[in-house]
Amino acid sequence: MLTSKEIRQSFLDFFASKNHKIVPSAPMVVKDDPTLMFTNAGMNQFKNIILGNDVIKYPRVADTQKCLRVSGKHNDLEEVGHDTYHHTMFEMLGNWSFGDYFKKEAIAYAWEFLTDILKLDKNRLYVTVFEGDKPDAETQRATSLHRDNEAAEIWKQFLPENHIINGNRHDNFWEMGDTGPCGPCSEIHIDIRPESERQKVDGLTLVNQSHPQVIEIWNLVFMQYNRKADGSLEPLPNKVIDTGMGFERLCMAIQGKTSNYNTDIFTPIIAEIEKITGYKYV
Ligand code: SER
Repeated sequence: MLTSKEIRQSFLDFFASKNHKIVPSAPMVVKDDPTLMFTNAGMNQFKNIILGNDVIKYPRVADTQKCLRVSGKHNDLEEVGHDTYHHTMFEMLGNWSFGDYFKKEAIAYAWEFLTDILKLDKNRLYVTVFEGDKPDAETQRATSLHRDNEAAEIWKQFLPENHIINGNRHDNFWEMGDTGPCGPCSEIHIDIRPESERQKVDGLTLVNQSHPQVIEIWNLVFMQYNRKADGSLEPLPNKVIDTGMGFERLCMAIQGKTSNYNTDIFTPIIAEIEKITGYKYV
């Protein structure tokens, strides 16, 4: 069985082999950005590159980023302690392209890594694509957006059509905060239920339904816009790929566990706590 350390390293090695510069995680407390207190995604440290304010030193980058989701647009605080797959602090594996490759390569890389390198079962994977959006006065969304047919067509090379699902702006239009870089996204979900259950209920119907064993593992964001304070979208100077994979969830899937807490990321810590407190973790 691959250890969490090996899984992390295989991600970094894979993207290094695709000419990505491997960079360190940014600190969790965001510096010099009053719109965000804690790092909530791998892309935060690249915000100024994405907006065109900083020069692109490396057009391809990958890393593993410590994230904290406890406030604002991305807040997991209410989920923690209730389910098996949310954390306030977690690690996000990510790869970026700043004006270099776009959807075709990002999707192909993700698929290759999950199915060729990590050998996840293709039949257990589902993907979502952005279904489009109408202007909406209430949420100040001033721009009409089309379905992401381009991403859907690319996914069809890898998955049957009944594994490709439309998703709404809540799940499939990623935004860093109320303002800032954003764009349509495709999420990759995995069904880790036992075979007997999969025979009874089609995994397709459980995607994005808060089922603890049909969960999102990787989000591929196709950054194309900057959301302004008035809600309007302006095009970014370069198209950007921003992906984020939940490291703990990936380890759960690879290690055949049904809870992130049963992976070797957490079990040594839990064992130590058991020793110190004399209580048994159940
Ligand atoms: N920024 C996206 C996310 O956090 C992909 O990295 O899901």
